[in-house]
Amino acid sequence: QVPLIVAIDGPAGSGKSSVSKAVARRLGYGFLDTGAAYRAFAWFALERGVDTSEAEAVTATLPYFDYTIGTDPDGYAVLVGDTDVTEAIRDPRISATVSAVARVPEVRAFLTALFRSIAREQPLPGIVVEGRDITTVVEPEAEVRILLTASEEARMARRSLEISTQSAETVAEQLRSRDAADSKVVEFMSAADGVTTVDSTHLDFEQTIDAVIDVITTRT
Ligand code: C5P
Repeated sequence: QVPLIVAIDGPAGSGKSSVSKAVARRLGYGFLDTGAAYRAFAWFALERGVDTSEAEAVTATLPYFDYTIGTDPDGYAVLVGDTDVTEAIRDPRISATVSAVARVPEVRAFLTALFRSIAREQPLPGIVVEGRDITTVVEPEAEVRILLTASEEARMARRSLEISTQSAETVAEQLRSRDAADSKVVEFMSAADGVTTVDSTHLDFEQTIDAVIDVITTRT
């Protein structure tokens, strides 16, 4: 049986990952963080000493990328080969590199195919898949498609609370430049046709989860 797919896109700092994970937990669904795969691939390319500004060199490493991720929202590990990179992929070094590898079309095609098969092979009745191009490219036919947004101010404030090792200005600057780079490749700042926008600027975490669950309930 094909699982019900809930596709959620949004910019950095929109709370997508934590909200999607909580929604999946509440509904008894699986969860797939596609940004984690792009990050794991960036980690792998750096590990191999690849110049990530060279698209051809980046593409050449794809066949060696052995990636595993669980879909249980209560504890998933990201593995590259036998190495657990769950923590390492959150490093600022990866955040600074990931957009460069994510803009390579071969990388996107490779990971998109992987996401589709992970979503279909997971055993639960549904799965929440979150990223930047899930509603438009990866799963445009998903039963539920949501764009999770928040004002730039709110996103910067949330993210700088998460990252206490850097100044608020540094965090804001990095988010802005990553969103700008990513926006050149995929559109995630405005909702595509048929995609429901949930704006969390004035919602707390629980209210955002409720708003997303409302959309899912209405649509299914
Ligand atoms: O969601 P997160 O911020 O962890 O994503 C990391 C990066 O992965 C993004 O900045 C973007 O470059 C890339 N990405 C993407 N398409 C997705 C998910 C993430 O290009 N569906």
